[in-house]
Amino acid sequence: MSYLEKIDKTRLPRHIAIIMDGNGRWAKERGYERIFGHQAGVESVRQTTEAAAEIGVEYLTLYAFSTENWERPQAEVDALMSLLVDSIQRETPTLNKNNIRLAAIGNLNRLPAGVREKLQACISETAKNTGLTLVLALSYSARWEIVNAVREICEEVERGDYLRDEIDDRLFAQRLTTRSIPDPDLMIRTSGELRISNFLLWQLAYAELYFTPVHWPDFRKDDLYRAIYEFQRRERRFGK
Ligand code: IPE
Ligand code: IPE
Ligand code: MG
Repeated sequence: MSYLEKIDKTRLPRHIAIIMDGNGRWAKERGYERIFGHQAGVESVRQTTEAAAEIGVEYLTLYAFSTENWERPQAEVDALMSLLVDSIQRETPTLNKNNIRLAAIGNLNRLPAGVREKLQACISETAKNTGLTLVLALSYSARWEIVNAVREICEEVERGDYLRDEIDDRLFAQRLTTRSIPDPDLMIRTSGELRISNFLLWQLAYAELYFTPVHWPDFRKDDLYRAIYEFQRRERRFGK
């Protein structure tokens, strides 16, 4: 029986965030280059996005490239960037067909101009869609985002926009790249690593964390449904 039938559709997580990990290991285990794993991971992105949209999740954030990933060998970085451009371009019609809106968070200025332009084009072309919002975290790191927010707030206080004592968590959250997105209810990491790796440190404060040994290229719709099912079996207390 699919996990889909076990899910209570009235209690879905509004926002699911995923650390898509294990592409390199998946490829190595098969005797291929790491990039082969990244290529295979594109199908998992397609399936997961479709599954989230079909079931009625409002936001899906995918950690596709971290600030630290710039330190990988240039050939791997280049391959990941061209994979990104190709996928975005190819998938835009499908996103529109499925009423999915694309958004991006991260230090997008660091992306090669070509990638940024294709990304912006897809964001504009899907802006009017009202179904799932698919958020790509690209050149993203939570510490970068938090430091940026602090700088912005300091400038505003210096300018006299508000007083230091008026800074609260609501105002702070409004200075993050996720300002228009609710906090994730569920965070999934694939491939067995039990860490956050600089992902959404502020926003995950009360998220339920779900770890699976499945490598990202093997992640399919039922893996997402299973994570949602496990999420629904937990009791969220929010400290109360
Ligand atoms: C995740 O897979 C994709 C990115 C970080 C871009 P990895 O490339 O981290 O694969 P592993 O973790 O080395 O197996
Ligand atoms: C986190 O995975 C970043 C992405 C999935 C994009 P990494 O593979 O880069 O993280 P570490 O090195 O295992 O912490
Ligand atoms: Mg990894």
